[in-house]
Amino acid sequence: MGESKPAQGRSIRSLPLVLAVVAGVMVTAFAGAALLPDGSSGSAAADLTDEFVGAYPATTPATGEVVEVLLQTQIAAIDVVETGATAVWTYNGQVPGPEIRVRLGDTVRATLVNGLPESTTIHWHGVRVPNDMDGVPAVNQEPVEPGEAFVYEFTPTDAGTFWYHSHTRGSEQLERGLYGSLIVEEPEPFGYSQDVTWMIDDWLLEADGRLVEQFRQPHDVTHNGRWGNIVTANARLDTVLRAAPGERIRLRLVNASNARTYAPDFGALDVDVIAVDGMLVGAPFDASGFVLAPGSRIDVDLVVPAADEPAVVFDNFNGEGFAIGSIISEGDPIATSQFPVPTNPAVPDWTGAVDADADHSYVVSLGRAGDGWPQWRFNGDAFPDGEPMALTEGEFNKIQILNDSQVLHPIHLHGQFFKVVTRNGVSVDEDFFRDTVLLMPGETIEIGLVALDAGTWALHCHIQEHADAGMMTTFTVGA
Ligand code: C2O
Ligand code: CU
Ligand code: CU
Repeated sequence: MGESKPAQGRSIRSLPLVLAVVAGVMVTAFAGAALLPDGSSGSAAADLTDEFVGAYPATTPATGEVVEVLLQTQIAAIDVVETGATAVWTYNGQVPGPEIRVRLGDTVRATLVNGLPESTTIHWHGVRVPNDMDGVPAVNQEPVEPGEAFVYEFTPTDAGTFWYHSHTRGSEQLERGLYGSLIVEEPEPFGYSQDVTWMIDDWLLEADGRLVEQFRQPHDVTHNGRWGNIVTANARLDTVLRAAPGERIRLRLVNASNARTYAPDFGALDVDVIAVDGMLVGAPFDASGFVLAPGSRIDVDLVVPAADEPAVVFDNFNGEGFAIGSIISEGDPIATSQFPVPTNPAVPDWTGAVDADADHSYVVSLGRAGDGWPQWRFNGDAFPDGEPMALTEGEFNKIQILNDSQVLHPIHLHGQFFKVVTRNGVSVDEDFFRDTVLLMPGETIEIGLVALDAGTWALHCHIQEHADAGMMTTFTVGA
């Protein structure tokens, strides 16, 4: 085989700190809870819970409309590079799997039929599903064995950009191609002329197009996971968005990579982020430099300018400059549709959370199993060891996570959205929720959330090689 290793295991010191969002960091002037009229000091946590009210719904009524999908896992061959076909694992023979599009309130009924030689499950990333529809073996679902079927049924609670993927041996199953997008449309469309999804993934291919089939290499496990040697959007190297000058586009970017983090660079285009991890932001902000960690999504709003040259969207996270896709302006100009950028004005501020005590804390570290295999741990335990963290339902919870390692960890919580409230002890003013947050080497972050969805959920690193080496734990919400 050709030595087609990606540029990985690079020194972490060379990682650019392109955390543009953190540019909004401010030192809070919050001086502790004020005295209430009765003379007691109000509980800071209660105030923070109050701030959350109305941020997003606890439930969403079903319209009664049911969207049925069949997702059949099967081995197939696709053309990613010109030098030869790539054998992949797919939903319905395609990568990405079919895009599922529903309207908010519609019920998704997805039948998984497993045509793979091993068990699998589907997780609906970012969707607040009933706990037993969440797809995590050993946490909330039985594995679906070869030849078996399982019916997932849920009514998404939030509109936005979500995705589905295998939650079984992700370091191999995701890498082989088992992912697709799930778009939940708003009840009333905003008025974009096109609504386009790019699922961004990198592939580690041999020169002849075959996938390098050594998964979970110890070097990848102990470093930043498996990084590919090519980057694709929707599994193609030549993904193009064609639009007339003046068209106003909603472009949804999903990081479906096992391990690679991106910082999409739109060059001269003027691009605003309107949603992060599916949820509308409090106020739109410039997309340049936004760090898109594995699992995360951004929705951007852009108006296509008149241009003779394609606008290439690059990855600028570590300077490798992979092209993700391009935007071609062609045809007669049209009048740009005018409407206010969609936002969620009810995103809580939570700057006061810097002074609240952490309710729970984790330290992430690398160790070795008894057999010498590398193991990633939360508080010294590799999954399935460790006790579930208990979150109080309907109340503000603050969780601290310390990355006691030299590598990146995109931490993802199932079934909940949270806000980053501090980084390295400094208050962070991110005007949006997330379901995944990237921890830089040595970094400590604190997140705040009001848990609304009951059940036992997974909390894990979205670098699949880390998760499969133990970097997963669980938490409970409610009884
Ligand atoms: Cu997208 Cu538990 O994962
Ligand atoms: Cu998830
Ligand atoms: Cu990790």
